[in-house]
Amino acid sequence: MQIIDGKATAAAIKAEIRNDVEAILASGGRAPHLAAVLVGHDGGSETYVRNKVLACEACGFRSTLLRFENNITEEELLAVVQELNADDTVDGFIVQLPLPGHIDEQKVTEAILPEKDVDGFHPVNVGRMAIGLPAFISATPLGILTLLQRYGIETRGRNVVILGRSNIVGKPMAALMMQKQYGDATVTVLHSHSGNIADECRRADILIAAIGSPAFVTADMVKPGAVVIDVGTTRVPDASRSGGFRLQGDVDFQTVSPICSAITPVPGGVGPMTICMLMLNTLLAYRRRAKSLS
Ligand code: GUN
Repeated sequence: MQIIDGKATAAAIKAEIRNDVEAILASGGRAPHLAAVLVGHDGGSETYVRNKVLACEACGFRSTLLRFENNITEEELLAVVQELNADDTVDGFIVQLPLPGHIDEQKVTEAILPEKDVDGFHPVNVGRMAIGLPAFISATPLGILTLLQRYGIETRGRNVVILGRSNIVGKPMAALMMQKQYGDATVTVLHSHSGNIADECRRADILIAAIGSPAFVTADMVKPGAVVIDVGTTRVPDASRSGGFRLQGDVDFQTVSPICSAITPVPGGVGPMTICMLMLNTLLAYRRRAKSLS
């Protein structure tokens, strides 16, 4: 059984990005610039955004963090988005989700210029990706594809089973996996109303778990020799940890890892790749802008 090391892979890709940025600076260009908008004080969001800012530093990017309290109105937030859309020094930006209940997340997402939508959440990017046109691809599915490629795991013609149909992971993952130029696989998507979940999972050559249900995937649901990708990162109480919690994946690692051929751990698997792919999308946004302005 092989551990698919997302942390090491992400570090290698960030070093490659940094080299590219150094070459840009050496030839007189400016650093790519990512802005992040954070509303409120959700613990998970604070951690994600902090890690995104740190990743920008590691890659040699400029970063800007715009923080707002929970009582910001939708109108005010939409005005912030318009400012970032119009700011020529910003190559790409993200609005960290979830947003407070009084703000329509979809409205905010759709207000972001698709050319600056490095999360790949805007319907224009989702649609372009789904039909194989150049687009920003959302970071978690792109990170999973990249991990499989870098570990030489063939997807063409194989049975890929995806647990979960979220807009951020399950749906784009399925669209990418079925496409000829990406996964070229046979894809099954399972969700809360699917029947025979264990039987369907056992048909998977590659099983991607993205349902946010801690340790949902147990050994009886996995075909011996399958590749297992765990996207779950649920905070579960753990008194032995300094923060009082630990991150638990959607896969019961202890019982599943002995029977599969390769598996991503939690933490240190898909998570670090997600942030790294955001950096790659930002570099891409920078290059596209530099090209369109020249
Ligand atoms: N919340 C959880 N994951 C993400 C992400 O990838 N992007 C944004 N903007 N919010 C998130």
